Amino acid sequence: MTIYLNGQYMPVEDAKISVLDRGFIFGDGVYEVIPVYSRRAFRLAEHLRRLQHSLDEIRLPNPHSLTEWADIITGLIAANEPDDQYLYLHITRGVARRDHPFPNPPVPPTVFAMSNPLPAPRAGLLGVSAVTAVDNRWLRCDIKAISLLPNVLLRQMAVDAGCAETVLLRAGTPGEAAFLTEGAASNIFVVKNGVLLAPPKGQLMLPGITYDVILEIAEACDIPYSVRKIPADEVFDADELLLTSSTREVMAITHLDGKPVGNAVPGPMFHKIYQLYQEFKI
Ligand code: PDD
Repeated sequence: MTIYLNGQYMPVEDAKISVLDRGFIFGDGVYEVIPVYSRRAFRLAEHLRRLQHSLDEIRLPNPHSLTEWADIITGLIAANEPDDQYLYLHITRGVARRDHPFPNPPVPPTVFAMSNPLPAPRAGLLGVSAVTAVDNRWLRCDIKAISLLPNVLLRQMAVDAGCAETVLLRAGTPGEAAFLTEGAASNIFVVKNGVLLAPPKGQLMLPGITYDVILEIAEACDIPYSVRKIPADEVFDADELLLTSSTREVMAITHLDGKPVGNAVPGPMFHKIYQLYQEFKI
């Protein structure tokens, strides 16, 4: 595997970073994950725009122009197999004596990127199981931060239960019901009576690029949809639940907390969106 680190491509075995890197010490950095189909990055401009948002929110200057990012990515795709990959971009606040505030004067950021084979989307066609958990993350989930310990623990809850994902329910304000935010590493959609329901973007969820593609598909193909706050009981009462991410595309959640979702098989909305997504991603 060939990776990119601070201006150079090299075998992953040769890549070294300092133990004082603020990514290692504080989780002080942001990342992106970009799917690549037939050696072309999908929705690259949107991913780089979200990366810029993450960098802005943690007050880290973008080390590269859009053209430079495109060049780095082109090199990485060419150097790796197979044709369908996913790229991981990772920027930290660099190497400095351990101290919480930003290094002053600033130090060069660490820029790391790699590519991995994209899992076959068909794996999701059978449907997957999920568990629910209280969303106990911070209040800036719109930042794609590398400090992912809460997501790691939440995702492990799913694995421990033999499931593929943890669906997160954020406690409401006093008197308000808990509501759906997203998955531990995905966005979640609810289907009820033929309508696709999506939680609204905001600081409590990652604005998924795949999420945007799904809503674009709904808009373009006259699928009824609504973007609104989704109380927990509507999640438990769903006809279908869908999970989306750059690496898993769209999957049907057929069991939630051990109980069937709808008919416990991928439903008509899933099949329709799955098919359309395959056409959109080309
Ligand atoms: N994660 N929400 C969270 C918390 C995520 O980590 C992800 C993706 C998504 C979906 O976003 P997108 O459609 O842009 O991939 C939503 C990536 C795949 C990861 O961390 O590996």
